[in-house]
Amino acid sequence: MARLLLGVSGGIAAYKALEVVRLATKAGHAVRAIQTPTAQRFVGAASFAALTGAPVLTDEFERDPARGAFGDQKPPSHDPASHLELVRNADAYLIAPASANTIAKLAHGLADNLLTSAALAASCPVLVAPAMNHHMWEHPATQANLALLRDRGVAVIDPGTGALATKHEWGTGRLAEPAELLAAVEAVVEFGPAHPRPWDGLKVLITAGGTREPIDAVRYVGNRSSGRMGFAVAEEAAALGADVTVIAANVHLARDPRVRYVDVETAAELGAACAAEFPVADVLVMAAAVSDFRPATAVDGKVKKTGRDELALVLEPTADVLSGLAAQRRPEQTLVGFAAEHGAGALDYGRDKLTRKGLDAVVVNDVSQAGIGFDAVENEVTILTASGDEHVPRATKAEVARAILGTIDRLRTDAAARS
Ligand code: CTP
Repeated sequence: MARLLLGVSGGIAAYKALEVVRLATKAGHAVRAIQTPTAQRFVGAASFAALTGAPVLTDEFERDPARGAFGDQKPPSHDPASHLELVRNADAYLIAPASANTIAKLAHGLADNLLTSAALAASCPVLVAPAMNHHMWEHPATQANLALLRDRGVAVIDPGTGALATKHEWGTGRLAEPAELLAAVEAVVEFGPAHPRPWDGLKVLITAGGTREPIDAVRYVGNRSSGRMGFAVAEEAAALGADVTVIAANVHLARDPRVRYVDVETAAELGAACAAEFPVADVLVMAAAVSDFRPATAVDGKVKKTGRDELALVLEPTADVLSGLAAQRRPEQTLVGFAAEHGAGALDYGRDKLTRKGLDAVVVNDVSQAGIGFDAVENEVTILTASGDEHVPRATKAEVARAILGTIDRLRTDAAARS
């Protein structure tokens, strides 16, 4: 996939850089780490070497046994200068954590260790993720240095706000979360012909969350869908290189910088957004729980309880968005629906949806089981297609998402072979 050079400078957040390496290697990237001498006082080189599977350097004069090569490359026959060779081979250079001292050196072009000299020699995108005490972060010198770096095209991944390493200190200065750092790298890396990803250029449209149908100005008819399943599918598709749009109905989850989000509230808004996006999509994954009914009349203002013994809600059906899109699909588009079914007969209901709605796959989950499906972190599904069923035992939604994308890949390969 990509070659990531990770520069680790001194600070307690250096331990979080290990998690960046773990996530990046898990996503298939080749990672080399370099550390400043101070960083090694916080986390030893052996940890980075074990996770990257490659030597870890701190000094330009140290010989690199891998001669600047990443895991997917053959080392050259000569012995190149490591600060030049590592950045020449890298697709991105992420400096995380970047201490106030390292940021100052980067801003002023100092090259007194391998991390800073590699930064001067880098022609690939450079990302800097600061982490420090909030007083150091707020200091005008640090802010001016970061402004200089930003002006020069360096991507600065801002630190978070919260409890800091020092006891009882709270403020801005926490290193951004490892997943956020990896997403930022993947967003800037140019996946050119040297590193093609399987879904490069594929347009994937995903709906996620649950629609809310207003009863009055403050109340609604809704459901318990959190959007986790749809968001997991979006993140996995983006990792494969797809161009992903998510139509998000009332989802309050972290967002992936590689994904475009369109926020909607009601089934009608979700239908309109789908109608606008679907014509250019190659793949549609309809994970949203779309309300089948809505209040026939939404009251302006707030319904009052005074003088009422009961309140009857009259509901009218909403349009079935997925069936409407299936009716106008192009043959080469791949359509995946979801069926949240309760108890026995779930698979039969799912099979019925596959044919009735004209879909390529239906993901069935039995929402009667505790701990899976709606508003849960895990899921257990059966993916139905015309050529057979695949049961995915209880797993994280990310793993279930990968199984769904695997099915889509097979369906598209088979369809391409037939045409
Ligand atoms: N769906 C939709 N528009 C609706 C309702 C549902 O597009 N108004 C989509 C959902 O996103 C899901 C699939 O249709 O992908 C299945 O939803 P479901 O409500 O279970 O399907 P129905 O055919 O309405 O079946 P049921 O009678 O079980 O509700």
